[in-house]
Amino acid sequence: MKVKKIFITGGAGFIGSHICEEIFQSFEGSNIIILDKLTYAGKKKYLKNIIKSPRVKFVKGDIRNYKIYKKLLKNVDIAINVAAESHVDNSFKSPLSFTSTNTLGAHIFLLSCIENNVRRILQVSSDEVYGEMIRGKCNENQKINPTNPYSASKAAAEIIINSHKYAYKKDILTVRGNNVYGIRQHPEKLIPRCIISLIKNKKIPIHGNGMNQRYYLSAHDFAKAIVLLIKKKDRGIYNVGSETEYSNIKVAKEICKLFKKEPSKNIKFVKDRPYNDKRYSISVNKIKKLGWKQKDNLINDLPQIIEWYKKNYKIFNI
Ligand SMILES: NC(=O)c1ccc[n+]([C@@H]2O[C@H](COP(=O)([O-])OP(=O)(O)OC[C@H]3O[C@@H](n4cnc5c(N)ncnc54)[C@H](O)[C@@H]3O)[C@@H](O)[C@H]2O)c1
Repeated sequence: MKVKKIFITGGAGFIGSHICEEIFQSFEGSNIIILDKLTYAGKKKYLKNIIKSPRVKFVKGDIRNYKIYKKLLKNVDIAINVAAESHVDNSFKSPLSFTSTNTLGAHIFLLSCIENNVRRILQVSSDEVYGEMIRGKCNENQKINPTNPYSASKAAAEIIINSHKYAYKKDILTVRGNNVYGIRQHPEKLIPRCIISLIKNKKIPIHGNGMNQRYYLSAHDFAKAIVLLIKKKDRGIYNVGSETEYSNIKVAKEICKLFKKEPSKNIKFVKDRPYNDKRYSISVNKIKKLGWKQKDNLINDLPQIIEWYKKNYKIFNI
């Protein structure tokens, strides 16, 4: 499929900006249209490596604004919905804003793609839609069972989007990612929170007893998976994730080690979320069969991520 125009929402966010860079390199000659509301999590400067190119057009706007799409989706071949409210803690405080952006917003994005004849549609989702997985791994056929307002809003979006592939015969892809790490991530998330706490000589706050387990994939590996999937003819659901698991406390201790700080003096345990899934775990065999493979590794990448935050933490105004 010849790709001339790609539309992406949430491109000024953490993962979105890495996906935009990967698309920019992988689809030479294509144009990229980025729609982002620039909430607290999005920054235009995350796109500084590509935004000056005549191939890139940035539009500040809301994915729920139905009127915005007609002009932006003209002759678009592929549309990718990355925009979301993404922080689980916030979803307990303001669940409706999550349903509004993540579910209603995704529905408006989808209908606009259908109306404007976009051929291929990709929804970025999360492994959290499966809910807690104490043992074993979920493959894509596992029933979804979200346990917090964030994951429920993402699961609801998936159900709506995937139901449309029957009536409209669209190429619809859904990608369920596990935790992603890298530069530009907002400090509300574990890794930057640990790093910035130590930069500011504060203790790292860890939820509960810190034993919750998570898998971490680099934003580069995640972006590469997205590019691979949009190039293939396939449709359907794909898990994308890492195969190495860390407890939250292990991540905090690794970061203390790199700062040469004693964990027992630099970590404090704080009140847990109302519900905090102990573990998620996905099988990535399906995407591996397409030729995708995790290349990066959290522990190797932490030093360069720390360097980025040392230079840039002030942009977060925290
Ligand atoms: N961060 C992770 O570990 C992770 C893991 C799996 C899946 N995901 C999914 O990946 C996507 C990106 O996550 P992230 O961590 O980069 O999020 P983020 O919060 O860092 O960025 C979200 C981006 O979306 C934009 N946005 C929010 N609401 C918008 C709206 N109404 N209209 C237009 N733009 C809006 C923000 O301005 C921001 O640029 C989300 O869909 C999330 O559910 C994230």
